[in-house]
Amino acid sequence: MRFARRMDKLGVVASFEVLQKAKQMEAEGRDIIHLEIGEPDFKTADHIKEAGIQAIRDNYTHYSAASGFWDLREAIAEYESKFKGFEVSPEEVVVTSGGKPIMYYAITLFSQRGDEILSPNPGYPVYESIIRFCGGKPIPFPFLGINAFNFDPGLFKSLVTPRTKMIILNTPSNPTGTIFTQKDLEFIAKIAIRNDLMVLSDEIYSRIVYDGEFNSIAAIPGMKERTIVLDGLSKSHAMTGWRLGWGIMPKNISNMMNRLNGNITSCASTITQRAAIQAITGDQTMTHEMVKKFRERRNLMVKGLNKIPGFTTLKPFGAFYVFPNIEGTGMQSQVLANFLLDNAGVALLPGTGFGKYGEGYLRLSYANSSDNIRAAVKRIEDALLNGRK
Ligand SMILES: Cc1ncc(COP(=O)(O)O)c(C=O)c1O
Repeated sequence: MRFARRMDKLGVVASFEVLQKAKQMEAEGRDIIHLEIGEPDFKTADHIKEAGIQAIRDNYTHYSAASGFWDLREAIAEYESKFKGFEVSPEEVVVTSGGKPIMYYAITLFSQRGDEILSPNPGYPVYESIIRFCGGKPIPFPFLGINAFNFDPGLFKSLVTPRTKMIILNTPSNPTGTIFTQKDLEFIAKIAIRNDLMVLSDEIYSRIVYDGEFNSIAAIPGMKERTIVLDGLSKSHAMTGWRLGWGIMPKNISNMMNRLNGNITSCASTITQRAAIQAITGDQTMTHEMVKKFRERRNLMVKGLNKIPGFTTLKPFGAFYVFPNIEGTGMQSQVLANFLLDNAGVALLPGTGFGKYGEGYLRLSYANSSDNIRAAVKRIEDALLNGRK
């Protein structure tokens, strides 16, 4: 049996690998604090769960259109129009099983062999993996200065070539938690328009912002027609397992994407789609409470980590990750991540899991209780001091 050659191009998601190793250690009796996870530790709100249960009772157990139920697309269009600063119509919404398929579909629709796609680095590793899988070439653009997560316009511009087809943005960013400023976005928009480039704007963390202001590049004049926005309920409503995301894009693109979605998944789960209407139109208290808690934990974690010799941690603006610079420890990211799992019982990710510019950093998720965050910081400090837990 021989797998197709394209399979060599598909990466594995680092967080799932570390989780697996940590689970194995737990099975052997070790006590592990999980800071590698990329999902809220909160429960889905009861009124959303009830809507899902009611959907089953009401026999929403059949296919929907590939693009999703019309009333859900209407609800998403209204929800996004209010929040993102540009008008969205239901025809411009494609509902998918989580936000991830939008990445694959957008890259598949617009790039072929040899095409170049600018991708943030450190950044969500799936972008580069899918670009390679589709025969394209990821061009990493650093979204990180000397321990400051800022954007370098001159460098960005120099990476655009006649082969460039698309720019991928992620704001707030996984793994750094930084956001693009309106000025950055206007600069990128100018480049996209001048070079006739598509933009995939991953805004899955857009409702988890603590400082600064979230802006969507699609709201800049001339950009809606060349942007595919990715968003969904996984992070904002603690619904990762329900699998509900969407893309927003011009109608001619959504028609194509629906064709792709219909070929691959038929449609998103119809039970989840009914629950999603409740998530979007119902009470948003749970989201607000969750963001409030995340903010407290972020502050706690940043303060704790900054006391550890060799760690320098900036306060992230959004999402639920911190990305400390650890060059002062004298250890490389992967070595330090392994060391901390083995000796401190803290599972976290090396910055290099997010690309080459992640060397010198770690990613820690604060989707965990304040008590566990305090304990993890203490364990890291002790392990670095003593070399053992
Ligand atoms: C930046 C980013 N985009 C998209 C996703 C995928 O979200 P979903 O679970 O809705 O597919 C994630 C999940 O970790 C993410 O971090």
